[in-house]
Amino acid sequence: MCGGTLKKWCDLGRQPVSQSFRAPDSTTEEFFFDLAVGLCTSCTLVQHVAEVPRELMFRDNYPYRSSESAFMRRHFEQVASDLLATELSGPDPFAVEIGCNDGIMLRTINEAGVRHLGVDPSLQAAEVARATGIRVLADFFEEATALAVRQEHGPADLIYSANTISHIPYLDSVFRGVAALLAPNGVFVFEDRYLGDILDNAYFDQIYDEHFYLLTVRSVQAVAARLGLELVHAERIPVHGGSIRYTVALPGARVPSPAVAELVAAERDRGLDRAEQLETLSTRIEEIRTDLVRLLRDLRANGKRVVGYGATAKSATVTNYCGIDQSLVEFVCDSTKGKHGLLTPGMHLPVRPIEAFSDPYPDYALLFAWNHAAEIMAKEQAFREQGGRWILYVPKVHVV
Ligand code: SAM
Ligand code: TMP
Repeated sequence: MCGGTLKKWCDLGRQPVSQSFRAPDSTTEEFFFDLAVGLCTSCTLVQHVAEVPRELMFRDNYPYRSSESAFMRRHFEQVASDLLATELSGPDPFAVEIGCNDGIMLRTINEAGVRHLGVDPSLQAAEVARATGIRVLADFFEEATALAVRQEHGPADLIYSANTISHIPYLDSVFRGVAALLAPNGVFVFEDRYLGDILDNAYFDQIYDEHFYLLTVRSVQAVAARLGLELVHAERIPVHGGSIRYTVALPGARVPSPAVAELVAAERDRGLDRAEQLETLSTRIEEIRTDLVRLLRDLRANGKRVVGYGATAKSATVTNYCGIDQSLVEFVCDSTKGKHGLLTPGMHLPVRPIEAFSDPYPDYALLFAWNHAAEIMAKEQAFREQGGRWILYVPKVHVV
């Protein structure tokens, strides 16, 4: 973003597009790229070394559906209710969401009768949102899109985004677009996974093609300032293993909260802006790979059945980095209809419906969707009661 030098501090090797599930009879060549992460020694922004073309990730049949999680449905309902009571409480407000997916957040905004527009290039997800009456522009948000939206709908009182801004390499174009689209006192609120939590908990599988940036308060502050915006608030939130909700406004429009400076100081103290500190993650990742592969091999050698739970994007990093194929994990079950009958990217594990999990239960379940552990373990109590065990691999390999 600033033209500084990138210092590589993590390398997860050759990886596929994380949500590019394949038909078993597909003969097309699979796309792979080198998944390595670097730190900008000037502005401290953490980003991938290689960029995957956006059309390979966010395409018409992009399979991720936000609403598969009841916990996330409640989370976004709360977010929308809070925003309706604050930023959207004036006369005829207008809200834009970048990366609205199946409408998990805009549903509540729409039900309140508030003018809105979702922008998301993944057409089939957009169609799910549209079917409930939500307005969606099926396109990539960038500066040109923002200008067109402003021309047609007027300025936005709120631009919201969750788990999407870090996915967009052309952040300069996005932020310039945001600055052009915002009403004078409007705000841009976005939440994204936090590098601090990834480092603390060795959440190395949060590193995959889509997560091009691993954001910090300091780096967001620097990018915003460079592109004509101001970071006015930041708060940690307990979703997806640890995220931050950032509030950005036009310069001088809002009084910055003390939380911004406090979080920036805390990041400096723990070294989130230093490659030597970030590099400590690499040793932990290697230990996890050794321990996980050893455990899976021992279990199979002892005749135990192991099944994966949650065909997450994260699981692409874990399975490809550790070389987990069908000799170690029979299949992966997932609630998302669009993934059923397909093979996981790179390692080609079959994806089956959740019903396959209990038919019959395996001895062990490798929980790839660990960020939804509470929800999944609560709904799969019968598995545990009849003797099944969960395998988790972050912050280290353990069985519960
Ligand atoms: N906001 C939802 C959530 O938090 O669950 C969806 C997150 S999903 C991981 C990322 C979404 O961002 C996808 O639906 C994808 O199509 C969309 N996306 C990717 N690049 C985008 C862009 N430039 N503009 C708008 N949406 C984008
Ligand atoms: P995520 O960690 O990126 O949100 O992906 C979660 C994946 O796990 C997604 O493919 C849906 C799946 N899933 C289930 O199969 N069952 C569940 O109960 C939940 C919450 C998610």
